[in-house]
Amino acid sequence: MGPVLPNNLLLKAADEFGTPLYVYDEDRITFQYEQLRQAFRRSDVKIFYACKALTNINILRILEKLGSGIDCVSINEVQFALKAGFSPDRIIFTPNSVGLDEYVEATALKVNINIDNLDLLAQFGNHFGNTYPVIIRLNPHIMAGGNLKISTGHVDSKFGISIDQIELIKDVVAKTNIAVKGIHIHTGSEIKDVEVFVRGLELMLELASYFPDLSVIDLGGGFKVPYKPDEKGTDMEALGARLAETFEKHAARTGKTFQVWFEPGKFLVSECGYFLVKTNIIKDSPARTFVGVDSGFNHLIRPMFYDAYHKISNISNPTGSINTYNVVGNICETDTFAWDRELNEVRPNDILLFNNAGAYGFEMSSRFNSRTRPAEVLLTKGEFKLIRRRETLDDLLEGIIL
Ligand code: LLP
Repeated sequence: MGPVLPNNLLLKAADEFGTPLYVYDEDRITFQYEQLRQAFRRSDVKIFYACKALTNINILRILEKLGSGIDCVSINEVQFALKAGFSPDRIIFTPNSVGLDEYVEATALKVNINIDNLDLLAQFGNHFGNTYPVIIRLNPHIMAGGNLKISTGHVDSKFGISIDQIELIKDVVAKTNIAVKGIHIHTGSEIKDVEVFVRGLELMLELASYFPDLSVIDLGGGFKVPYKPDEKGTDMEALGARLAETFEKHAARTGKTFQVWFEPGKFLVSECGYFLVKTNIIKDSPARTFVGVDSGFNHLIRPMFYDAYHKISNISNPTGSINTYNVVGNICETDTFAWDRELNEVRPNDILLFNNAGAYGFEMSSRFNSRTRPAEVLLTKGEFKLIRRRETLDDLLEGIIL
């Protein structure tokens, strides 16, 4: 179990910075990163934080200092990474459905390039020949992940080049002379089963022989972290051991070794994050009791978008009697964080805590209903530091031509 912030500290943050508020704990990020280093100690593994989970540059700097690389899906994320101090060789650019122009911009920044469709591979090869080695994202036809919306390696997914098109890839490589230094898969998010990663690796090792310059096998992200109180995450020690075993076997047979890259997002930052909201109203209706809070899916969309479960606790009344509530937001839609959730009695102005709020929380927030986005605070060396101020009406108006 990693470090967990006590309720009194979180209440202090809510008091000092107001709600709704995202709070991140630096020590937990460090703990998670060290767990990965420890689990993969037997193999040549590099970690690239999938920063789409949480891009605040203060968070990126923590991972940079820890020695992590970074995985970016847009040219702006690459710019963030550079600002945070990552050198280009520690950055992977893994976009999807972008044109050659964005790739060319990324090459000017000298970062690692990951290409996920045949047409772009040909365009890139025609443009650069063998002067800019690339990684190719493959679709392994593996169905995995917490739900269909976050499953990305199955046959119907838009991501990657199908492994059934390997001959076409070889044709493009031969015609354009493009140098393939790596192959990549990312099969989905919240994958608990270690064997899914092993299956992916075995497949990559089979395909590796097609690419003589290959040095990297990138297995993507997707390690599961627990969201529900009784849930278990991916067993990283077991994964580390299976990975080493698979590599050792392959090396003994072929004499070949590769560096493995992983791109975890949730694993590194989900549990470091706490989202704090305040109760505005309690509404008793014949069917239900609603708790209406000063936030909504504009701030944390995961419950509405993925039916995701986030643990909620009433930290300002932790000994109150247990009642059942629908916890709802203030957005003018059926904006629900949790149905039939048992909580200690909720009163107006209570502070509710959402766990696992570090990954895809603030990052997927919006200004829907012309509501401002929350502030973000980092607990670092025992002190709270504001790392994004709360937005104001002026922020909403910025950019509009009046
Ligand atoms: N690598 C690639 C190429 C990815 O597309 C992703 C996530 C990751 C790594 C990191 O996956 P992670 O370790 O965080 O599971 N917004 C959704 C998750 C979507 C993930 C998209 N790609 C959610 O809140 O559940």
